[in-house]
Amino acid sequence: MPMVYAITPTYARLQQKAELTRLSQTLLHLPNFHWILVEDAPNRTKRATDLLRSSGLSYTHLYALTPEDVKLKPTDSHSSKPRGVSQRNEGLSWIRRHLDPDIHHGVVYFADDDNTYDLRIFAEMRRTKRVSVWPVGFTGGLRYAGPVVKQGKVTGWFTGWNPERPFAIDMAGFAINLKLFFQYPEAQFSNYNVQNGYQESTILLALHLTLDVLEPLADNATKVLVWHTRADYPRLKGESRIQSQLHKAPYYSVEV
Ligand code: UGA
Ligand code: MN
Repeated sequence: MPMVYAITPTYARLQQKAELTRLSQTLLHLPNFHWILVEDAPNRTKRATDLLRSSGLSYTHLYALTPEDVKLKPTDSHSSKPRGVSQRNEGLSWIRRHLDPDIHHGVVYFADDDNTYDLRIFAEMRRTKRVSVWPVGFTGGLRYAGPVVKQGKVTGWFTGWNPERPFAIDMAGFAINLKLFFQYPEAQFSNYNVQNGYQESTILLALHLTLDVLEPLADNATKVLVWHTRADYPRLKGESRIQSQLHKAPYYSVEV
């Protein structure tokens, strides 16, 4: 059975441990799976290290700090800067240094830490010859966006957002056969100088792909097996009040 290598960028925020717990326990169901978790941090953190060690998964733990000038700040509009670029590139570089396409067979999937994944998409993506594609829920300004398929072939994109993109698809909507990364050793995500929403097209164009070779999955792209979910920022309104009364409250500290 071909392997699935999932590259997941992750960064510190209140929801991080919850997201990684949910994702890692989805991944635990998978056979022949290797998780490449890449932290957006200057080093490996204790939080991720502990989580990976106790996860029961086969994994590689990496880190790559997003450069200061392109890092999305809480005051920036969400769409102004690309996320996960340095981390995915670090994952690809690890793959190229540690795997051999003559020995290792499988697919690479870019699995963000906050999406929701049906196990069936992993089972389907294993048979990818070059690149497979499928719809992703809650993307493109729609309930779902994805490839338009006619007679088994991808002919265009169904999306409410920038349909003129060469590959108008979300990161969670495609998987790539491992061998392509060795066939095109320079292919990587653009280091933060492409327009928002063009990261997917950047990597797929760098792998010399065209629409006609794409392999539609999820029943000819008629099923949603991945959702672009995002967790609401937790409301901590009580915290400042509690902190100001700390001398009264019993001391209470847990790892978050
Ligand atoms: C959408 C796409 O689904 C992403 O795959 C794409 O990277 C992103 O847009 C983009 O165009 O930059 P979205 O849900 O808006 O994603 O972004 P996030 O989920 O906030 O971030 C994507 C991944 O990067 C996540 O795994 C997240 O943990 C990670 N990330 C985010 C970092 O590593 N560092 C950050 O500062 C922010
Ligand atoms: Mn997301």
